[in-house]
Amino acid sequence: MNNHPQQPSNRSEDRQNLLLLLKDAQRRSGYLSDQLMRELAESVGVTCSEIYGVGTFYSFLSTRPQGRNIIRACKSLPCCLKDSHLVISSIEGAIGIRAGEITPDGRFSFELVNCIGACDSAPAILVNNDLYTELTPRKISQILKEYD
Ligand code: FES
Repeated sequence: MNNHPQQPSNRSEDRQNLLLLLKDAQRRSGYLSDQLMRELAESVGVTCSEIYGVGTFYSFLSTRPQGRNIIRACKSLPCCLKDSHLVISSIEGAIGIRAGEITPDGRFSFELVNCIGACDSAPAILVNNDLYTELTPRKISQILKEYD
């Protein structure tokens, strides 16, 4: 008979702790490099694939370097039905890069993401933690002027 029953593993709690750890690491380092994720995996005793799985699942975590300001444009259906493609084109024109890139001066990175929770006011984008809704292409350059 086993006198030392194993504690049941709480995968949800483990995953939540990994998420907090990765958010903190990204805040300190700017993004989650391969080396950083290997070091974190070793320090908390999980596999690199577990760390990588969490690090690539959430759109607010990045495994690539980011600009000083991160523009996240919603690409989900309700925004698409409200012409988000025009807003996305306007952003690309205003900063001279396409989604997935960083401006040469490091001022902006631009990403397309799934719903950001503002479907009732589509189309919507986030710039860092600031939400902008009911966008039109004409509003974009004025918004982006606010970010150095
Ligand atoms: S679908 Fe765009 S904010 Fe929800």
